[in-house]
Amino acid sequence: MRHPGLQRVLFDEAAIAARLDEMAAGITAFYDGKPLTVLAILNGSLIFAADLLRRLPIPLRFESLGAASYRGAVSGGTVTFKGGLPPLAGRHALILDDILDTGCTLHAVRRKVLAEGGPLSVRTAVLLRKRKTRIEPFHAEYAGFEIDDEFVVGYGLDYDGRYRNLPVIGVLDPARRGGG
Ligand code: IMP
Ligand code: MG
Repeated sequence: MRHPGLQRVLFDEAAIAARLDEMAAGITAFYDGKPLTVLAILNGSLIFAADLLRRLPIPLRFESLGAASYRGAVSGGTVTFKGGLPPLAGRHALILDDILDTGCTLHAVRRKVLAEGGPLSVRTAVLLRKRKTRIEPFHAEYAGFEIDDEFVVGYGLDYDGRYRNLPVIGVLDPARRGGG
């Protein structure tokens, strides 16, 4: 299948599904018997969350938090939130995000969850993790795929609001950046 806008496909639907099976097995083993709230960071983690949740055969609650980061020229990034946190007292929180890039977003989310939510524990699952030096060093307990420091789209990840609906993950054709 052709995917207009992609320079090349990194992970097709079968590869994503197989990796999600593995991630879900690890997550299920850790949270089995624990009160779990999954907190998806939107919009990027929408499709990842939908596909991962259906692989977790354990009781859980699902919540979401809108987050957007703006890159400053000098400092790392400013993260703004849309909506508030759900009650997390007495529960274990698993944060889901699409990609760990500079680390600014997840650092801010984790700090907010710990400060305002008061959960029993916090872990993070990302679909993608870029190999690079992060502005905010951040450890994600679960990561789907390691990728080079390239701009990728599809499966929830966007460029300027587009390409989230591609069923695969790929490198954006450089000719599409700034236009197309
Ligand atoms: P951060 O830089 O780790 O704070 O990541 C912030 C957000 O930037 C991520 O949640 C993504 O929405 C977006 N992002 C970072 N790298 C990429 C990419 O390669 N493609 C699409 N979105 C990205
Ligand atoms: Mg984005």
